[in-house]
Formats: sequence, structure tokens, C-alpha cells
Amino acid sequence: MADTAKIVVTRRIPEPAVELLREAGDVWVSPDDRPLETQELHDAVKGADVAVTLLHDKIDDAFLDAAGDQLRAVCNVAVGFDNIDVPAATRRGVLITNTPGVLTEATADLAMTLILAVTRRIGEGERLLRRREKWSWHMFMLLGMGLQDKTLGVVGMGAIGQSVARRAKAFGMEIVYSDARPASEEVERELGARRVELDELLSSADVVSIHAPLMDATRHLINAEALAQMKETAYLVNSARGPIVDEAALVEALRSGQIAGAGLDVFENEPEVQPGLLELDNVVLLPHLGSATIETRTAMGVLAAKNAIAVLRGEQPPTPVNPDVLEGAAS
Ligand code: DGY
Repeated sequence: MADTAKIVVTRRIPEPAVELLREAGDVWVSPDDRPLETQELHDAVKGADVAVTLLHDKIDDAFLDAAGDQLRAVCNVAVGFDNIDVPAATRRGVLITNTPGVLTEATADLAMTLILAVTRRIGEGERLLRRREKWSWHMFMLLGMGLQDKTLGVVGMGAIGQSVARRAKAFGMEIVYSDARPASEEVERELGARRVELDELLSSADVVSIHAPLMDATRHLINAEALAQMKETAYLVNSARGPIVDEAALVEALRSGQIAGAGLDVFENEPEVQPGLLELDNVVLLPHLGSATIETRTAMGVLAAKNAIAVLRGEQPPTPVNPDVLEGAAS
């Protein structure tokens, strides 16, 4: 390993991760928590051997050009890597890594929180009290939907989808899911989960929860047509990536009563939130908090650091996205 390896971290990450990185080279960490502007990002990464990046950093040809030919890896501190042009990196022999596994439970907790919050009208109740309005308990106040015996439709039955299904089952829900790849028989048996086509999921689920990655095939997967297939009493929850849902169509569906409500942790043009959503009472909105626990964010940073260090030491990184780059280097 070159002892002067240059490691660029594009935004503050937990200190244990930075300490690990310091053992492997000279580390520059962006001093604050805002995303760098494109030019700042390109200036910062110039001459880096490894870049440790965050989910809103755009890693494309321009970034890779700005970094230079010595760049060996981009270690994203996120499980999602839709911010990265992986084929462009692969063409240049730049390894991409992500942080799967360590955020599964925290993200599933958050999805379940949204499911409960929107079906039990938690935001509306909280806002009512904060408005300091007069209120008194009555039989019909802010009635929501109970989860027992209702159906959860999981769109994308990867690790996070399965963990959400596990939680929902404990709340008495039936599970259906759609995914290009079936879950293992063991998982289906454990969760009593049935794989169905997306159309059937949309028309039968009481809560539709999205856990698919963002890619061409899932961009606007939940559009006006998909929303029209949902029951008027059903809720949509998205804690995956904003652009999977056509937000304008969602606002319309919520306004018209096409669906009962939505819980959103992610947005189509983050950090912007559609003004239409902000005006609606039947929506619970969170600022992309899926993995936001101290333990999980630390584990994400540490895993990204381990990936970076392995690359610099010529070892096998724990979680590569384009391992063919490593095979190419070995041959
Ligand atoms: C991820 O890791 O992709 C998450 O969106 C971060 O919370």
C-alpha cells in the first residue's frame, strides 16, 4: 500500500470511520454536512486514490475525469448506488463499493414507523395538539386503519423488504410481494409470503411499501396508472428512493381520494419536497431518515472505510458493487 495514499471523504462521516481511514493514508474530510457543489466536489477529489462518497454525490464521467487516472475506488456510504454511473467506473477500472446489510434493520424500523404513523394518523394528531386547539376525546376522532388481518404488499423483497415483512407479520398482517426474483422458500414459509404480479399486489394490498432499488426499470414504477389500481382505503409507503414514485401523480391520487394516505422518507428531487405534499394532511413526511441511528450510521461509515482500506492494501473489499474490476486487475 502506498503510504501516501490520498483519501477524500466528501462529507462528514462518523469519527470511528475516519480514524480507520487515517491508518491507510492522508485523509481529507469535507468540513461540513452539506453536499458539495459539483465544482467543489470535482476540486476536492482531484488526485484521490480513493473517494468515500455520500448518496447525493453524482459520480459520473465528469467526476472520474476530475479525480484522475490514479483513482482506484469510490466507496459509497449507502446501500443504494443510483448516484453512481457504475458502467462508467467499470470501464475505467474503478471499483465501486456500497454498504449493504448494516442498515437493514434501521431502515425496516423506519418503514414500519411510517406504516404505523400514516395508518394511525400520528402526524395529524400531533399537529392538532401543537396548534393548541381545543379538543376532547370522542369516538370518531382521527380514526385510522388497524393493521391486523390487513395485507402488506412489499415491492422488492430484498433484505430490507423481508425485514419489513417480518415486522408487519408481528402486527398481524398478511404478506404479498413482487420481485423479479422469488425469495427463498424458507423466507416465504417463515413470512407466509406469497409472490404476486405487481398489478395483483397493487389491487389487493392495504399498505404498499417500496423496497426496490432505483434503476431504469423502477423509475416511476408507481405512476398514475399504478396508483389507480390501489384501493381507495390503501396507503403507500416509500423509504427506498423518491424517483420510484411519480410524485405529481401521487399528489393527485392523495388529493382526489384515489388512495387513503402516504408515508414518505424519500423524494423525487431531494432535498426538495413537492409543495403539494406539504399541503396534504394524509401524508407523513420525513427527511430521508431510514438509516439514521447512531449505531447504523457508524456501521455504514466503518464498512465504507473497510472497503477503502482493502482496496488500498490490494485485498478483497467486503462489499464490492462491480467485482469484475477486481477480477480484471488480477488477470
Ligand atoms: C442508503 O443507504 O441507500 C440509504 O438511503 C441511506 O439511508
